[in-house]
Amino acid sequence: MKHLLSMLALSTEEITEILNLADQLKYENKNGIKHHRLAGQTLGMIFQKSSTRTRVSFETGMYQLGGQALFLSNRDLQIGRGEPIQDTARVLSRYLDGIMIRTFEQSEVENLAKYGSIPIINGLTDFCHPCQVLADLMTVREHKGHLDGLKMTYIGDGNNMANSLIVGGLKMGMEVTVACPEGFDPDKRVLEFAKDNGHFGLYRDPVEASAGADVIFTDVWASMGQEEEAGYRKQVFGGIYQINNKTLAAANPGCMVQHCLPAHRGEEITEEVFESHADEIFDEAENRLHAQKAVMVTLMEHK
Ligand code: CP
Ligand code: NVA
Repeated sequence: MKHLLSMLALSTEEITEILNLADQLKYENKNGIKHHRLAGQTLGMIFQKSSTRTRVSFETGMYQLGGQALFLSNRDLQIGRGEPIQDTARVLSRYLDGIMIRTFEQSEVENLAKYGSIPIINGLTDFCHPCQVLADLMTVREHKGHLDGLKMTYIGDGNNMANSLIVGGLKMGMEVTVACPEGFDPDKRVLEFAKDNGHFGLYRDPVEASAGADVIFTDVWASMGQEEEAGYRKQVFGGIYQINNKTLAAANPGCMVQHCLPAHRGEEITEEVFESHADEIFDEAENRLHAQKAVMVTLMEHK
């Protein structure tokens, strides 16, 4: 494994190895065992969109591994003034040991990997959010003891989270159902993958999709970059595409609720459901740190 570009690019074995290492790093972290496995290394973090969790967990994770992280905002980099990604990739490869990038186009991440010579980590694009989904799979496995055979449901926009959850869940042997409005389906490449790779269902009705679910995910109705569509999206999704008592009643007893955050209470999730599943949701947020440390060690140690 040279990069983390998308869940599509990972094998089941690679995902399992990352989750196992993440569990180990979490255990060590909780028990005060320090391993400076990336001592002297520098991770560049390019952000073309906002972030709380991704930025802080990568920066802290790199520090805990004995390295350092540089926060590189689009506003300050020459990329923001039009310097091509191909040149940025080749320049940064001469200074850094790895790059995490959060941007719009998936092709930018792929081009960094193509033109650069160091590991590239996708910290969210419009297409996918693999770092988040590794933490999500880690959290479900931690709570349920396994992934294989569980049913995962996603309610909401067929966005980057939906795309990565579908692929990640199916690759780990989960049944995956998605409920989204017509016109807001997941990416075609993901639906194509889902057709031939396990047990997948696309629904319009969230309650139907949630029948027998072991974990239900949701995400915001309007993602970063879609701010202007927020009003229209509220009309389309409002009152239907939400985790609430009705969707949970259709699920299995003990069904988990997960949200990548930030959450909009009263929109994609009710206040009541959010607060009664807050422990699981904040475990999920915490696991970003451990899962991403596992990704960085996998990609950057001994390189
Ligand atoms: N879930 C997630 O990626 O959060 P941030 O946007 O705060 O990084
Ligand atoms: N779908 C959301 C996820 C945020 C972590 C977005 O892209 O804004």
